Amino acid sequence: MTTTLIGSPVNRVDGRKKVTGAAQYASEFVLGEMTHGVLVSSSAAGGKIRNIDTAEAKQAPGVLLVLTHKNAPHLGKMPNDMMAGGVAAEARPPLSDDQILHNGQYVAMVVAETLEQARYAASLVKVDYTKGERFAVAIEDAEDTRYKPGDFMGQPLTFERGHWKKEFEKADVRLDATYSTPTEHPCALEPHATIASWSDDTLTVYNATQWVKGDQTVLSAAFDLKPEKVHIICPFTGGMFGSKGATAAHTILAAAAARQLKRPVKCILTRPQVLTDVGHRSETIQRFQIGATRDGKITAMRHHVTTHTSLKEEFPEPASISSRMLYNIENYATEHDMVRLNVVKPSWMRAPGEMPGQYAQESALDELAYELAMDPVDLRRRNHATIDLTTNKPFSSNHLLECYDRGAERFGWSARNPLPRSMPDGNELIGWGMATATYPGYLMGAAVNVRLESDSSGVHATVSTAGTDVGTGMYTMLTLVTAEALGLPLERVTAKLGDSDLLQCAVAGGSNLTASTAPAATDACTEIKHELLKLAADAADGFTGAHKHANEFIFNNGRVAHRSDPARSIGYAELLSLNKHPFLEAQAQTKPIFGHNDEYSFHSSGAHFVEVRVTPAIGRVRVSRIVSVFDCGRILSAKTARSQFMGGIVFGIGAALMEELTYDRAHGQPVNADLAGYLVPVHADIPEMDISWIDEPDYNFNSIGCRGIGEIGITGVPAAIANAVYHATGKRVRDLPITPDKLLAT
Ligand code: MOS
Repeated sequence: MTTTLIGSPVNRVDGRKKVTGAAQYASEFVLGEMTHGVLVSSSAAGGKIRNIDTAEAKQAPGVLLVLTHKNAPHLGKMPNDMMAGGVAAEARPPLSDDQILHNGQYVAMVVAETLEQARYAASLVKVDYTKGERFAVAIEDAEDTRYKPGDFMGQPLTFERGHWKKEFEKADVRLDATYSTPTEHPCALEPHATIASWSDDTLTVYNATQWVKGDQTVLSAAFDLKPEKVHIICPFTGGMFGSKGATAAHTILAAAAARQLKRPVKCILTRPQVLTDVGHRSETIQRFQIGATRDGKITAMRHHVTTHTSLKEEFPEPASISSRMLYNIENYATEHDMVRLNVVKPSWMRAPGEMPGQYAQESALDELAYELAMDPVDLRRRNHATIDLTTNKPFSSNHLLECYDRGAERFGWSARNPLPRSMPDGNELIGWGMATATYPGYLMGAAVNVRLESDSSGVHATVSTAGTDVGTGMYTMLTLVTAEALGLPLERVTAKLGDSDLLQCAVAGGSNLTASTAPAATDACTEIKHELLKLAADAADGFTGAHKHANEFIFNNGRVAHRSDPARSIGYAELLSLNKHPFLEAQAQTKPIFGHNDEYSFHSSGAHFVEVRVTPAIGRVRVSRIVSVFDCGRILSAKTARSQFMGGIVFGIGAALMEELTYDRAHGQPVNADLAGYLVPVHADIPEMDISWIDEPDYNFNSIGCRGIGEIGITGVPAAIANAVYHATGKRVRDLPITPDKLLAT
C-alpha cells in the first residue's frame, strides 16, 4: 500500500474551531433554565464539622438549594476500577459525612439562579470545625503512618529478583543516593466543569473529561440508573494530563442537585479548588543503591520509593515502574512505602511513575557515569536490555540504541568535555546532559464505527467512537487514518468523538487511545472496501469476482480501480447507489494490551540531550537547546505527534525547574493553589526543540504498528536537565524543582 496521509504533517481538523472559539467546552453549553452551583471548601485540614449553619445562605437572593452532609442525597456505590469501566475520584461519596480529610474538601454546594448569587450565598455558609485535630501535609510529619501499599494495576510495588544486596556489597563501584520530587498538579488550562440536566429519569451531563464511558459507568452506579439512561457529552477537553480520568465530586454533586431542582446545574471549579480537590502527583522520596563493575556493568540495583496518599484511600505513584525494566539488571529489588496525608487522593498525572522514577534513576546513572569516568551514553548502552526482565519477554520492537545514536549525533554530544564547569561563557556556565525516556505500550481497547455515504454533496465518511480528544489530536488522527484507509480526500471524512452514545472506547489516558482506535478504524474501513468490491462485482463491467481478489484493486480519491489499469475504475457514489441503502457501515474493535501479551513486552523509548545555561550569580537555569529522539512505533499524524512530544518535553522542563505545590505545614493548605503561584513554563522558558522519531512500525502491537506518544515526552527530561546543571556547575541537585535557592546554597 502506498501511503500519502499517514505520517504526514496535516493541520488539525479542529484547529479553526479552536482558534475562533467555536469549539464548545463543557461549561460553554447553553441550556434553558440553567442554575449555578458553587462549592464551599473546608478551611480546616482535618477533624470534623461540628456545626454547619446554612440559614443565611438559604435566604440570600436567588438561592435554590444548599446541600451539605446533612441533606445530601444518598448515592449508590461507585466503581473504582479502570477495568470495571469507570473510576470515582474517591470512593467516599461527596458530602457523605462530617469528616474533614483535607483542606479544600467540599462541605457544601450552593445552587442559585446566577453564578454571582451562588458565589455570594456560598460565602454566607458558616462552618464550625472541631479544633486541635492532628493533620499532616508533609511525609516527614506522618512517619508513624508508614505502610506498604498493595499492587498498582496488577503489578507488585515491592519485589526482588536475584540478590541485589549480595551483589551490591561485592561491587567494585557503589552508589547510594536519595532523590525527591514534590507534589505536582496537572493544572490543565480548562478548569474542571460540569453541566448536569435531567429529563424524567434520564441524566445528561456535559463534562470536562477524558472518559465519557467512565463517567457514564460511575454516574449510573451513583444514581442507580441503567447506563443508557446516562448520556455524557464532551466534544472538547481543554487539557487534562490525567486529572479528568476519574469522575469527580463536583460532577456527582451537580447531577444530584439538578435532579432535586429539576433544572440544569452548572458547576465550574475555581482554580484553587482544582488544585486542592483534583488529584495531584504525590511527592516521592527515592533511594537508589547501585553496584557496578569498573567497566560499567550494573550488577545490583535497589530502588526504594516513598510516596504519600490520602487518609482513607490509596494511590501509589508507581515510581519504580521503569527502573524495574529499562536496563538489563538481573539483581534488582524495589520497595514501596507510603504515608497518609491530609490531602485529596493523589491520582494519575502525565507518565505516572515514569516521570519521578526516571528523574531519580537517570540522575543516579549520571552520577554513576562520573564515578566510573565513563560517558553516560556508553553506560546506558552497556546496560541496554533486549528483554523485559519483569516479564522475561523480549521487547516487541526496540530502537533505543538508535535513539541514542541519532540524538547524540544531532546534538553534537561527541564534543562534550565531561568535566563540570568546563564550558563557561561570559557570566554563564553551559552544561550538557542526557537521559533515557521510556513508556509502556498500552492499548486499552476501542470499538469504532465507520459509515460511508453519498448525498447531493458527494461521498463522505464518518468515523466515530466514544473516546475523547483531550487536545491530543484524536480528531485529526482518526480523520487521516480513515481517509487513508478508504481512499478519500481528508475533507471528505468527519470524526465524531466524546459522546457516550457512540461505541465503547477506553479512557484517553495511558497514551493508549491512538493505538486502540486507529487499527479499529482501519479494520472497519477494510470491511467497507470489501463491500464496495462486492457491489462492483455484482454490477460493474470488468469487476466480476472483484471481492475475491481484493489486492488487485486500489481505492483512491473515492474510486475503486484496477491496480494494473487504474483508468478502469468506478466511483463509490455509483456503487452506493446500487446498494439497498445509500450507505455502507462497519464496526471493528481492538482488545486491551497492558504492556505485554503472551509473546512480547511492549515499550516505547527515547533519548533526550539537553543544553542548559546557568547564571551562577543568581542561580538561574535556562534550557537553551534540546534534542529528543523517540521510538514509538509508526507515527500516524506527524504534526499532532510532534505537538505531543513537545508538550511532554515542556512538561518535563516545568517539572525540572518550576513545578511544586507547596503546603503550609502549620495550616495544612497549599500556599500556591493558583496559576500565579504554581509555576509552569511560558514561551520564554522554552527553547527551539529538535524532535524526531525512528518511525519503525510495531506490528506485534497492533495492525497499524503504532504505540502511544502522549506521555513519553516528559519522561527523562527532568533528569537530562539536572544532569546538564551538574555538568554546568558541578552541583548535583537531588531534589526537584531545581530552583535558584538550591543552586545558590553551598
Ligand atoms: Mo494520563 S496520566 O495517562 O491520563
